[in-house]
Formats: sequence, C-alpha cells, structure tokens
Amino acid sequence: MEENQLLEKFQEKVDAEIKVEPKDWMPEKYRKTLIRQISQHAHSEVVGMLPEANWLTRAPSLRRKMILLAKIQDEAGHGLYLYSAAETLGVDRQELVEELLSGKAKYSSIFNYPTLTWADIGAVGWLVDGAAIMNQVMLTRTSYGPYSRAMVRICKEESFHQRQGFEIVATLAKGTPEQKEMAQDALNRWWWPSLMMFGPRDDNSPNTAQSMKWKIKRKTNDELREEFIDRTVQQAEAIGLTVPDKDLKWNEERGHYDHGEINWDEFYNVIQGNGPCNQERMKARRDAYDNGRWVREAAKAYAAKRAAKAA
Ligand SMILES: [Fe+2]
Ligand SMILES: [Fe+2]
Repeated sequence: MEENQLLEKFQEKVDAEIKVEPKDWMPEKYRKTLIRQISQHAHSEVVGMLPEANWLTRAPSLRRKMILLAKIQDEAGHGLYLYSAAETLGVDRQELVEELLSGKAKYSSIFNYPTLTWADIGAVGWLVDGAAIMNQVMLTRTSYGPYSRAMVRICKEESFHQRQGFEIVATLAKGTPEQKEMAQDALNRWWWPSLMMFGPRDDNSPNTAQSMKWKIKRKTNDELREEFIDRTVQQAEAIGLTVPDKDLKWNEERGHYDHGEINWDEFYNVIQGNGPCNQERMKARRDAYDNGRWVREAAKAYAAKRAAKAA
C-alpha cells in the first residue's frame, strides 16, 4: 500500500476507537511523538521521587513515613511501566536513560522546585499528583494500546497519592495557627508551578492539533488546566485556604473559574534548566546511575552464568 493509503487506514482505525498496537503500521511521526511523550513521562516519575525522598527521614510520624515510602515506591513502578511501554515502540531503555542523563530529554518542570517544609509534601500530593491525574485519566483513553493500559493501573495509585497529600494539607490547615500558615505557604508556592504542569496555552502549543487528531491527547492543555482549577479551588476553600490568585473568579456564564495570567517566562526558564533545583536533580540521577553500575553489571554477569549453565 502507498503511504497515503496507509495513513488513511490508520486514521480510520483511530477514529473507530481501535487501539494501535506495537506491531501495527503507524506513521513515523506518531511513533516519534509517543516515544518522546512516554519517555518524558517515565523520566518525570523517576525524577519526581527526588523532592519527596528529601522528607522520608523527617516525616512527622511512622504512619506518615510509611505512606510516603509507599508513594515513592509507586512512582518508581510508574517509571518502570512507562519505560516498558516506550520500549514497545522499538526504542531501547538504555537510550532513553542516557538522553535523560545527558540533559537531552526533558521531564516535568515541577520537580525542579524544592520541598522546603513538611507541608510541601502535602502540596505535592494534593496539587502535583492532582494535576498529573487530570492528564493521566485522559491518557487511559489514548490511542496507543500499551500506553493506555499502563495508565489504567497508574491512575488507581495516583488517586491514592492525591488523597494522601490533601489529607496532610487538611490536617495542617486545622492545626495550630503556625501549622495553618505552613499549609497556606505551601499552597502559595506550589499553585502556579502546578498550573504550568499542563504545558503552554493552546494558542502556543503547536503539536496539540496533530495529537488530538491521532487521539494521543483527548483534551487540550487549557481544558485540562481548567478542570484542575475548578476542582482544586473548591478543595482549598473546604479546608479554609486561599488560592494565591487575586484574579481568580467564578464565571457564571462559562461555568468555570477565570484565573490570572501564568508567568510563562518562569515556565520556560525552568524548562531550560534554570529552575531552583535543576542541577541538583540531574546530579542525583547521574550519581544514582553511577552508583548502581555494579548492580547492573553483577545482574548481567549472573544472568550470563545461568544461561551458560542451562545451555
Ligand atoms: Fe506517578
Ligand atoms: Fe503519584
């Protein structure tokens, strides 16, 4: 078949809501887009463990420590599912990891912000995992089979993450005045970076139209951001905290909140590597890679030995 015909057939299949599977024909650009998106997602899960690991030894109780440990472990698992999903597209995990370590691949800019207080761990679960869920629930319906199936499982765990974070913030918000202040301060610092997680505005997001047509994405950045704001503002109000946006106002006509302008200069600056923790995060990943080298080598040597024995 001619390329044009193949493309037409592919689009018909996507329109008919039939999942695209690894061995099916797919446009090269579809494959490339997915590799980039899934690997960025995998990197974000893995780098996302770092700001939380920072609080593991200082969590205020054994219960909190166990929950945080379980959450971080979930994120490692998400990274592994996602690297596997990317590998079904014919790319090697080693390549992807090298792209992260060399700085060529990106990860979510949110993880370049520091977790300064315990309330930040609550804000990360509530806002960061909360924003991630909006995106990931949409991705359970993405057109690429392995990605969509990975998302189903991941979403179940993410909703636990979001609730544990909200519970931390809610507990602080009804604590002493100092604790409430801490919760408000965390919300103040994490609110805007969380809104940036949905990516640039639709009128500045050149790949969105093609991704929507191929049903890789089902909703635009601005649609997802709006959903997140609508839901989260109410949660903040319920626990007596104030969202740090003086232009935030319910718009009766639209049935959504209007919000103030996001600082896109900050967004691009962090993406370009100049956020508060970019260097620290990359150093932690590179150190982990170097320090784990002997484990990988030992595992390979053991596997080779067993294979030789079996032969
Ligand atoms: Fe995750
Ligand atoms: Fe999570």
